[in-house]
Amino acid sequence: MQRLNYFAVSNLSRMKTIHPEETSATATKLVLPNDTNTLHNLFGGQLMAWMDEIASISASRQCRRVVVTAAVNSVSFDNAIQLGDFVTLKAKVSRSFTSSMEVIVDVYVEHQITGEQKKANQAIFVFVAIDQLGRPIEVPELIPVTEEEKSRHKAALRRKQLSLILAGRMKPSDATELKALFE
Ligand SMILES: CC(C)(COP(=O)(O)OP(=O)(O)OC[C@H]1O[C@@H](n2cnc3c(N)ncnc32)[C@H](O)[C@@H]1OP(=O)(O)O)[C@@H](O)C(=O)NCCC(=O)NCCS
Repeated sequence: MQRLNYFAVSNLSRMKTIHPEETSATATKLVLPNDTNTLHNLFGGQLMAWMDEIASISASRQCRRVVVTAAVNSVSFDNAIQLGDFVTLKAKVSRSFTSSMEVIVDVYVEHQITGEQKKANQAIFVFVAIDQLGRPIEVPELIPVTEEEKSRHKAALRRKQLSLILAGRMKPSDATELKALFE
């Protein structure tokens, strides 16, 4: 009976469509001494934890399910973030597949005193929605609206194929979307 319920919910959720803005999640953090390395810059692992948390909220907003991090595909640390800085993390789902969702997190840093703001880094996460037995479950379709959302949506399939190849889950010869780039 319980299983039937899961199927019913799963089928319903697939019929629903979501716009990226509905998955938007934002958080602002203050970099405190405990968050820094010996150079008084934000410790990369702390930033990863903040990004993972905000990305998981975004993914949950897409599917209203428990989600787990399946992969972190691209992280760049372009600018150091210093003690006392304000860090704003903005996460949005860029594409949903069957049970997985790609979430892009953009990170902005603001100097506490001068107010100067700049983009510090970006990371791309893959989350999978799971049922109460930990099995992947279908998620609603994401319909991109803006030009940036459409471009990120299109590129997400290439990133998924690359991620699956690197994880040994896909043969390079099956990565049609990636191969098309070189044809
Ligand atoms: C993520 C997890 C649920 C996947 O389970 P699984 O039995 O391998 O399931 P599947 O093979 O059906 O994969 C499920 C989805 O994840 C995707 N996926 C799995 N690994 C992936 C990777 N490395 N990159 C991109 N997508 C991946 C699959 O393509 C599939 O997507 P789709 O259904 O949208 O097509 C399972 O591996 C798990 O629970 N991992 C631990 C997660 C966790 O604890 N995270 C926190 C780490 S501290």
